Amino acid sequence: MDPKTTTPGSLTMVEYYKAQAFNPVLIPVERQEVWKEHVAKRRHLYERHLGLPLSLLGGRRVLEFGCNSGENALVLATQGARLTFVEPNPLVAPRLRELFQSFGLEASIEAFHEAGIADFQTDETFDLVIAEGFLSTLADREAMLAKIVGLVRPGGFGVVSFNDRPGGLLEMLKRAVLYRAYALASVTDVQSEEALAIARGFFEADFLKLKASRTFETWWRDTLVAPVYLYEHLWSYPEMLAILQAEGATAFGTSPMWSTWEHFNWYKNTPEAGSVNGRFEEEWRRHLFYFLTGLPPAGKEARASDEVLDEVAGLVRALARIGDTLDPGAPAPFEAPRFFEYLMASPQEAPRAFARELLALLGTLGSPFSDELLSTYRGSALLRSQWGTAYHYLCFQKNQA
Ligand SMILES: C[S@@+](CC[C@H](N)C(=O)[O-])C[C@H]1O[C@@H](n2cnc3c(N)ncnc32)[C@H](O)[C@@H]1O
Repeated sequence: MDPKTTTPGSLTMVEYYKAQAFNPVLIPVERQEVWKEHVAKRRHLYERHLGLPLSLLGGRRVLEFGCNSGENALVLATQGARLTFVEPNPLVAPRLRELFQSFGLEASIEAFHEAGIADFQTDETFDLVIAEGFLSTLADREAMLAKIVGLVRPGGFGVVSFNDRPGGLLEMLKRAVLYRAYALASVTDVQSEEALAIARGFFEADFLKLKASRTFETWWRDTLVAPVYLYEHLWSYPEMLAILQAEGATAFGTSPMWSTWEHFNWYKNTPEAGSVNGRFEEEWRRHLFYFLTGLPPAGKEARASDEVLDEVAGLVRALARIGDTLDPGAPAPFEAPRFFEYLMASPQEAPRAFARELLALLGTLGSPFSDELLSTYRGSALLRSQWGTAYHYLCFQKNQA
């Protein structure tokens, strides 16, 4: 294992999966109805959200890092894509081979390298390079994103997913609330049945209203008490866009789709060369409230300044730190005045309600009474019913000369 891929102070994702003998995203695509739904979701992601028609992948060379047991790549193989895999977890390879064999698609696999992204070396470039579900957890993720851009041929595409920092605020808040409840109840094992029961008391009723494919217990285990869900794993579009700009690539599409700068524009009004990544960033700053909550915008909000964004990051970090310990002492007070001013200045009611509820809940995180914590959380109508936008995809195109 490349030491550079270790997350500061914790297990890497691969070490965690290996230690748990756990396949994080096994999808039983052998079942016809599961396969149909899986294909529909992947097509929707690639074609409608990211703007990449899968039927154009016939004969194209695709490199996928972190393919796990290959359920996603199988969809690309049905379209004739030629696949190279780079995956460090040896436990998943047998299932990947079996799957491709059972679909009669083993000839689509041109290579399988048991390696992490940092160790993979090649002089080749690819039509499409994918890194889904792990990149933002790497300590050297900036260099690895630059490496991915370098592996795409000019005019080709890259698709990466990541855990978003503002989008993760509500999950980190829920996690902090839960860890405070654990500390106050003297829970010592956050993976125990007792810990699960406390989590159900806070979140299960709201979770069951979602169209989630995971069970409550899986969500709790994967998100709220997973030792590999850390502040350091959260990333953001501006940081990634800056790397694309420096490496000669341009944002192409995202999922969720939040950028509207091209909407209603005549195609002859082409953007200035090199300006597209910046346009995505400006749009992102005006949609901060959408990222925080997942609520569709009622109109564009004001542009979030660097100071507001720094305070959001500080708040997410402080909340994440609570979720790293079971310290029963009250946490340090939360300071984010510009962020709250920004929300309160909104012409819409929802951001103002969000600010009021968030201030009240942050105020009770220091309470020594778990009943008070529970009742304040339950009384936060907006915060408890929203989940933020924790997981995002960014598709980019490598610039052509
Ligand atoms: C959460 S799973 C996602 C699997 C699949 N890509 C998806 O999105 O459904 C993360 C995958 O990334 C792999 N992975 C973790 N660290 C990696 C690294 N440094 N290089 C390449 N793959 C890595 C894991 O072994 C696992 O297969």
